[in-house]
Amino acid sequence: MASSSAIFLVIISCLFTSGSCVSYSETDTLKQGDQLQDWDQLVSVGRVFRMGFFNPNPTYSNGLGPSGPRHLGIWFDRIPYYSVWVANRVDPIPDSSGVLTIDEHGKLKITHQRGQPIIINSDMAPKNNLSGGNFTVTLLDSGNLVVRQVDSNGIPGPILWQSFDYPHNMLLPGMKLGMNMKTGHNWTVTSWFSEKIPAPGAFRLGLDPTGANQLLVWRRDEIYWSSGEWQNGSFKSAPELTKGIDIYDFEFVSTANEKYFSYSLKNKTVLSRWDLDTIGTITLFTLYQNTWTFQSTSPCSSDLKNMTAVCLSEKATKCRKESDMFVRKRGYFEYVYKFYDGYVYEAELGFSDCHSKCWKNCTCIAYQSASSDGVGCKYWSKGSKFVPNDNSDFMYLLPSKSNK
Ligand SMILES: *[C@@H]1O[C@H](CO)[C@@H](O)[C@H](O)[C@H]1NC(C)=O
Ligand SMILES: *[C@@H]1O[C@H](CO)[C@@H](O)[C@H](O)[C@H]1NC(C)=O
Ligand SMILES: *[C@@H]1O[C@H](CO)[C@@H](O)[C@H](O)[C@H]1NC(C)=O
Ligand SMILES: *[C@@H]1O[C@H](CO)[C@@H](O)[C@H](O)[C@H]1NC(C)=O
Ligand SMILES: *[C@@H]1O[C@H](CO)[C@@H](O)[C@H](O)[C@H]1NC(C)=O
Repeated sequence: MASSSAIFLVIISCLFTSGSCVSYSETDTLKQGDQLQDWDQLVSVGRVFRMGFFNPNPTYSNGLGPSGPRHLGIWFDRIPYYSVWVANRVDPIPDSSGVLTIDEHGKLKITHQRGQPIIINSDMAPKNNLSGGNFTVTLLDSGNLVVRQVDSNGIPGPILWQSFDYPHNMLLPGMKLGMNMKTGHNWTVTSWFSEKIPAPGAFRLGLDPTGANQLLVWRRDEIYWSSGEWQNGSFKSAPELTKGIDIYDFEFVSTANEKYFSYSLKNKTVLSRWDLDTIGTITLFTLYQNTWTFQSTSPCSSDLKNMTAVCLSEKATKCRKESDMFVRKRGYFEYVYKFYDGYVYEAELGFSDCHSKCWKNCTCIAYQSASSDGVGCKYWSKGSKFVPNDNSDFMYLLPSKSNK
């Protein structure tokens, strides 16, 4: 670790002298005085995880390299730029001027040229005897990003802040879902707003607050899915999450201070994550002996997925049966104003909200996102004429009768 400033110095100097240095720093730790620039990355000791700036929405870059919006993310080294955690979830950096540093109070700060600095760990509990500085931030092989204070011998002290306390759309082995009664902090996983926008979206996964040993997914604060109670090493209504996998340990822990669910790996060479997607499905990905497997809570059978149904459950209404669904169709609608219900660029509506609004409106027969990054909705109503071609994707109502 003593070498990390030296590595940064080497990189900075070769940039200024030759302008062509492309080597990345190979360190897991950032110390006071170090800078992680847009092109630098931290790598965990065993090279399991990597952290750096990336663009989750490549359409913005126009193929012109790293332009905004940039996020500071953590990803599996083997799955580049597919992030399991994002530091600046709601404040993308508009260009590649972002620089991560850690200051003498242990604050992780991203500064950039076009706005205020972003503090990542603003809620790090202030401790009385944190004087003397010497804070470091380290990316561990678990994927956890931890802030610690090192003593005069360079030995790190206890963890003062960790990214694992703030899961994003993924649950990793060692993360918790539940609540800390002592601090009032809840550990939940929240879906992205859209495939391209990491900001919090419509779905949230957490532990049942009534005390039952079960997991719940909320959709905009209404219960959308439940795992059923944990019994005998499995979830009653979601056995797929534990089925046939003896490489994991699952646990529900309840003490006076905290109550949580967590899972861990028996074999550390396995890569695993639970992924809560933008339509509320949990998928457990496992890379074991060079083979990916996945198990998912999707409400769709595989033949429905094959016909590209939107696998989102809605409740029956006076005009919809639970088994009705929307399927993806490529084409366009002939423009007839009275059947086009509009271009509703409500910034808070994501894809799943458009689904819900169209579902609840008996005259609606199709919808699509209003923008290519999944913000806002467009709707069409009965009478609109659909013309198949290769134009664009629409979610088109398929009543369950005609599906038989
Ligand atoms: C944590 O969850 C509980 C139960 O749902 C809720 O009452 C409480 O407000 C939450 N706390 C925070 C800080 O969100
Ligand atoms: C739990 O699993 C064991 C072994 O598979 C089985 O014998 C037992 O009946 C199960 N108990 C319940 C309550 O399902
Ligand atoms: C862990 O898994 C790897 C393959 O992914 C295997 O080679 C190794 O033997 C396993 N270790 C144990 C202790 O099971
Ligand atoms: C999926 O659909 C394609 C074409 O419609 C078909 O050829 C294929 O067999 C289907 N796969 C499954 C698993 O049903
Ligand atoms: C349903 O859509 C129609 C247009 O087709 C619109 O006039 C009406 O306001 C919508 N109803 C609701 C409840 O949103």
